Amino acid sequence: MEQILVIEGGYSLKGSVRISGAKNAALPVLAATLLSPGKYLIKNCPELLDVKTFSKLLETLGITVTIEKVYDEDGSMDLCIDTDSLSSFEAPYELVRTMRASVLVLGPLVASLGKARVSLPGGCAIGARPIDLHLKGLELMGAKLNLKEGYVEAKAKGGLKGAEIAFDIPTVTGTENLMMAAVTAKGETVIRNAAREPEIVCLGEMLCKMGAKIKGLGTDTIYIKGVKKLKPTDWEIIPDRIEAGTYLMAVAAAGGELFLKEADASLLETVISKLRETGLKIELDHSGILCKKKGRLNAVDVKTLPYPGFPTDLQAQIMAIMATAKGLSVITETIFENRFQHVAELKRLGADIKIEGRSAIVNGVRHLTGAPVMATDLRASASLVIAALGAKGKTTISQIYHLDRGYSRIEQKLSSVGAKIWREDKKSENK
Ligand code: EPU
Repeated sequence: MEQILVIEGGYSLKGSVRISGAKNAALPVLAATLLSPGKYLIKNCPELLDVKTFSKLLETLGITVTIEKVYDEDGSMDLCIDTDSLSSFEAPYELVRTMRASVLVLGPLVASLGKARVSLPGGCAIGARPIDLHLKGLELMGAKLNLKEGYVEAKAKGGLKGAEIAFDIPTVTGTENLMMAAVTAKGETVIRNAAREPEIVCLGEMLCKMGAKIKGLGTDTIYIKGVKKLKPTDWEIIPDRIEAGTYLMAVAAAGGELFLKEADASLLETVISKLRETGLKIELDHSGILCKKKGRLNAVDVKTLPYPGFPTDLQAQIMAIMATAKGLSVITETIFENRFQHVAELKRLGADIKIEGRSAIVNGVRHLTGAPVMATDLRASASLVIAALGAKGKTTISQIYHLDRGYSRIEQKLSSVGAKIWREDKKSENK
């Protein structure tokens, strides 16, 4: 039965929560296990629907995924991946449809098996999101591509070869896919205008530990010298900077004082300085981030940009706190063309927001009021949770499967620090 999330607003937060491993680092790292047969131990994988879906995808390719250890605190897992039995090269529509990141198996499959058949992801709630740049790069590396029956078929009979690739736009999964394709290609690959996100660095460092030769990680030009063979390795997923940012915004909405255990502040510099501008107090130490709210926050303008700019994955959440900040805030989304679906829902809670082209003009009101709302995508759902924590009265959020894709145990984490938040069967809402 479908469940809804119920939030009683107005309770401030106090205590500490553990920040789990990054979803967007775990998925490419799991894909990288396709590059060399053997056993891998991937530590600190977050307990998320997307990680489960990706494991299922690996299993459809013939691979064995077993849970080695579960962390009591937040359900994170160490996964043992045995890729000796890799036997299929097809990522089926049913899985790619539910998770676009499935496309991350394309590069590694062509690299290790010389062929792949991967369903085309199609559009999604936040924009058209094509994969043309992934495909162009693979073609430059000598793959023959064929688009048939909704699938991309890629073949590289004599193996891939190094190439000069220059992206029109820095693409995160595109950079990851081509980096994985290039590590065992013949000769050198250069990726220019590469994305610089920390999750790409996490993947790249794992590849280096497997024997790859990569330079320039974290910069906009990545050099990869192809090697003949890689070997399996153990690897640990970095903390989720987007989850950490989301909890900072939760304090900004609900008030109180929260310590984010294991959050890595060095991956959140732009976000932290923006939040400090609002008046939120943020202190850093090696073991995490401490955040305190005193008084009403000030409005700030925000523009999303590729890393190290302000992340698009926190745009909806900062809009939720700007909804009650002092003054006018202009929030501009430059990465995805349709990532304002939370606006209509925030307005149902009483926010005063107008959309003008790629910007949302948010006029801070004194307070929001609880109402039934609907989650439209992963980060939009998080923004509704944040808004509801600070709102007067009760909010119910439907379609929360979006939230489960990217936030592990969110209601347990929030209730443990004083929020009133729980799940109910949808039916009981109508009683
Ligand atoms: N783009 C193209 N052609 C391509 C690839 C991308 O035009 O071949 C465009 C996209 O349409 C978009 C821009 O380039 O306008 C950037 O998209 P990018 O490829 O970087 O996004 P992605 O790799 O599909 C990852 C994250 C997203 C995150 C974006 C931007 C993963 C698994 N997903 O997506 O995460 O929003 O980078 O930082 O890493 C999320 O976690 O909620 C999420 C959506």
